[in-house]
Amino acid sequence: MSQFEHQDEQNHPRPQVPEFTQMVENILSRRRFLGGAAALSAAAFFSVSPLSRAIAAATDSSPLLGFSAVPSSTADTFVVPNGYKAERLISWGDALFANAAEFSEDGNNSAADQLRQFGDNNDGMSLFPVDNNSAILAVNNEYCNYEIMFSHQGKQMTLEDVKRAQAAHGVAVLTLTNTDAGWQFSKDGPYNRRIHANTPMAMSGPAKGHALLQTSADPTGEQILGTFNNCANGMTPWGTYLTCEENFNGYFGSTVAVDITPAQARYGIGAQDAGWQWHNHDERFDLAKHPNEVNRFGWVVEIDPNDPTSTPIKRSALGRFKHENAELVIADNGQVVVYLGDDERGEHIYRYVSRNKYNPDNPAANRDLLDDGTLYVARFNNGADKGDQLSGNGEWLPLIFGEHGLTPENGFSSQAEVLIHARLAATQVGATTMDRPEWVAVHPTEPTVFCTLTNNKNRGVAENQPLNGPNSRAENHYGQIVRWQPTSGQHTDATFNWDLFLLAGNPSVHPDTPYAGSANINVNNMFNSPDGIGFDKAGRLWIQTDGNYSNQGDFAGQGNNQMLCADPATGEIRRFLTGPIASEITGLAFTPDQKTLFVGVQHPGEELTGSHFPLGASHTPRSSVMMITREDGGIIGT
Ligand code: FEO
Ligand code: CA
Ligand code: CA
Repeated sequence: MSQFEHQDEQNHPRPQVPEFTQMVENILSRRRFLGGAAALSAAAFFSVSPLSRAIAAATDSSPLLGFSAVPSSTADTFVVPNGYKAERLISWGDALFANAAEFSEDGNNSAADQLRQFGDNNDGMSLFPVDNNSAILAVNNEYCNYEIMFSHQGKQMTLEDVKRAQAAHGVAVLTLTNTDAGWQFSKDGPYNRRIHANTPMAMSGPAKGHALLQTSADPTGEQILGTFNNCANGMTPWGTYLTCEENFNGYFGSTVAVDITPAQARYGIGAQDAGWQWHNHDERFDLAKHPNEVNRFGWVVEIDPNDPTSTPIKRSALGRFKHENAELVIADNGQVVVYLGDDERGEHIYRYVSRNKYNPDNPAANRDLLDDGTLYVARFNNGADKGDQLSGNGEWLPLIFGEHGLTPENGFSSQAEVLIHARLAATQVGATTMDRPEWVAVHPTEPTVFCTLTNNKNRGVAENQPLNGPNSRAENHYGQIVRWQPTSGQHTDATFNWDLFLLAGNPSVHPDTPYAGSANINVNNMFNSPDGIGFDKAGRLWIQTDGNYSNQGDFAGQGNNQMLCADPATGEIRRFLTGPIASEITGLAFTPDQKTLFVGVQHPGEELTGSHFPLGASHTPRSSVMMITREDGGIIGT
């Protein structure tokens, strides 16, 4: 979440409780009072029982979860369970190269320094093993906090300041070495690299070279400068990293009036930027002067972390929207499937399916699998009250030029335009408006897909966001996790069955209402706004939060943002760690032996809330990658 785009939880007039909400209330209160056993037998009645079982059986003790839960916390520390230890791997401003400047506590690092330092606000990350003693960690640097970065707190921005901010965005590639003291970052490592808002990149896929991507600096529409607001991530089995551009719109603005097209409006693009002020000093970001520059952002970018000289590639076939992560799985038939969320209230969940098949024996042949395929968007049909569990079915709607109304009379004149304006195409084909889709994660051994729907204060309030499908609560301040299974178990299937793995809530503030959450939420594990998720090899689902950390009102007792661990089979959820003041927990990567877990702490002390994480005392708060191990050297989570 950008410093300029807060999760305002302001009160709205309470809408009338529609029939659907009443139904959800009935379901939830019944489940809560029936208890596990009764609910389980009710759930088992239904044909989608493998999906339904989880929430109902929440009180079972899970064999997968072997650690002691940590309590909620408002302290300025990073707390892990007894028997675990957490160390700092790297923080914003740390030198990335042996001869780079170190972080300056007095705020005097230059733009040139920042280009050779770890970026700010680390987010999604992936680990690429090299051998037993070395690995590459690719980490997104989503944005920066002007109020912490600059002594003027962003109020007197200069060109140098803008360049420094641009240098703090993007991706960091880190060489890790396994030593007697555990994994460490190596400043001398051969893979170290900074990719930032001015790094040359290539455009590929159907939108490459399209007129909407052409600018005066790049009449070809094929050569882009930079990536920013890199939220979450993905990785491919052919060894590349996927970084996802999220709130790109906020970096563009204009000092004069500009005509905003409906397509621009749908992406939140307007003369008023989000506060970054780049367009005041770098005319590339001035909409009036370079109206197509903004179309060159909002993509998934593929990076080869093994080659620091490689050119990152924006893969237009995966669509342009506010990308969260890119969860890639190889279907049984070899086609590449990528699940994608678009994080905005009322936007959609997408799926890409490659035309060609993955070839494990020829890595070079896989390089362009993300250029040629079909992008789909999800329609979740409304769930029915099946007595216990909210569930339903759904379908993947293809976004193909010339089909299903994606035609010139509706404003689409090519496949490139369908992809550049994917949000408009999704609406045209009838996609379901969701509660801010964040990360998607696929279970390691079952064809089950999980997606966090983080929250949506507009649900049931905005006209275009009625209660629908898994978006079952009006004024949804807590969020939920939906999951689905392809109808025949193949990720390429056209249809799926869905249910809710959890509804976050606050059972002490809202007992007996849908806002208490599902039966697997209790006063000991409650949280709000699930965001990052990922599975370990054994099938534990790790859940990270980016929510309201006020610990008051609707959020009383939930404390700072946190990371939890769930057993998808039983539905049990246990809190694994808590973050420092005003931080978000985001980004996770395991070493292959599952004994080291890297976790991101983002924006501690944002809005000058007084954190001094990670160094304590009077130190500047800095986003950091933390490294978690067990004192006995065991596998994380067991
Ligand atoms: Fe960068 Fe949707 O979180
Ligand atoms: Ca978020
Ligand atoms: Ca996120």
